[in-house]
Parts: sequence; C-alpha cells; structure tokens
Amino acid sequence: MLFDTHTHIDQEEFDASRDEVLSRAREAGVASLVAVGCTAQGSSKCVQLAAEHDGVYAAVGMQPNYIAEAGADDWAVIEGLAAKPGVVAIGETGLDRYWDYTPFDQQQDFFDRHIRLAQQHELPFVVHMRDCDDDILQMLREARQRGVLKGIMHSFTGDATMAAECVELGMHISFAGMVTFKKSQALRDCAATIPIDRLLVETDCPYLSPEPVRSKRPNEPAFVRHTAACLAEVRQVTLEELAEQTTENARRLFGTH
Ligand code: NI
Repeated sequence: MLFDTHTHIDQEEFDASRDEVLSRAREAGVASLVAVGCTAQGSSKCVQLAAEHDGVYAAVGMQPNYIAEAGADDWAVIEGLAAKPGVVAIGETGLDRYWDYTPFDQQQDFFDRHIRLAQQHELPFVVHMRDCDDDILQMLREARQRGVLKGIMHSFTGDATMAAECVELGMHISFAGMVTFKKSQALRDCAATIPIDRLLVETDCPYLSPEPVRSKRPNEPAFVRHTAACLAEVRQVTLEELAEQTTENARRLFGTH
C-alpha cells in the first residue's frame, strides 16, 4: 500500500482521464492520495474530489506563484475550505525565488497566513521551496516560536543539513520523481539521512514523472511506486517495508486511516 502525499489531480490535464487515473492508482497499490490546491478555485475542486472518491483527501491553499493573480476574496475562500470534510492539510504554500510572478514580500505574507491557519486548525501545511532555503527556514523558526509545527517539505530538493533542521522543527520530508533521476545522486544521499518516521513519497503529478517512466506525460499517482522503489534501494529496505512505513507516516500526519 502506498500513499501519494502530493498530487494535482484537480488540474485540467486530468479532466478527460481522472477516473482511469484513479483506478490505475488503486491497481498500483496507491490506496490514498492528497489532491493539493494551488488556487482558491483549484482548492474547491480538491475538496469536491475528496468528497466524491474514497481514499482521496484535500489540501487547500494558494501556491506562491499564483498569489499575484488571485482575487481579493480568495484568501477568505481558503479559510472557509479549511474546515470542510476531507481536508487534511493547508497548502500548497511556501516561497519561490526562481519564478518572479508574485512579489517576494507578498509571498512571505501568504506563507505566514497559511502557517497560522494550519496551526489554528491543527493541520499540517505543505511547503513549496525553490531557491529560497534560508528564507523558508527563517519563517519556520519564527512559526515554531508560536507553537507546534507540523508539515511537509514537498518535492524536497535541499541538502541534508537543511532537511535535518526542518525535521528538528517538526517537519516531514517528501520526495518526488526528481530523486530517481540519474543526476540526482546528492539528493539520494540526502534521502538516506531522513529519520524513517519522517519520510514521505509523492508524485507531484502532472509534473516530472520518475524514472523509468520519465518520458510519460502526464505523471500520475500510480507512478509513485517507482519513487518508493528508488528510496527503498537508497535506504536498503524492501519496497514493501518502505511503502508500509511511508504510508503509516502519512496516515499519522494527516489523521486518516
Ligand atoms: Ni505541488
């Protein structure tokens, strides 16, 4: 049994194929997955998908690159969705210095709002981090001063030092397809250092399919098995052990069963 902790199955790429994609996931042993919203509209759709499908849960939030184009009422929509059935996390949120779609101070304001909303609802939050490790750590440290932190460093690409401090602050570390790429030996070395009870797997579909199905588009939850197999090899355990442990970690974090 596998738990894909980060998917964007709400997105248009899946409109024509969503039912088949979900049934292929089940056939591949992916018993549970989280549909993660990037906008208010997308988050509403994730909540709807969670209501319609067994084993599908929702995360609600505004991804940093989409904030500049958001409507004035969109944050209120996210706040309202946070208490809906099937919502197991807040996000995706975070910071991004690679793209320049949203002014950085506005990204920081919304990252802070997401963390506070998660703390208020005692839910984990989902962190997108691109080219801004120190900025993220600084805000996580500040938030940790206010109360317990629980959350996910999603599609993690930082180094082992960064991962260790995130774990120390209360976070889980989730790996996506990139860890399977030939060039990613440093990331695999980092994955070997994560405490086993803080490790998660995800596809981040429709983006970046893992090896050996890297050329397949879109990526889909069934492919999370390949990322789990890579991590099992890195950590010298069987795929079954890795799958069982990461699924248990996800269930504990999200409060699902
Ligand atoms: Ni994402």
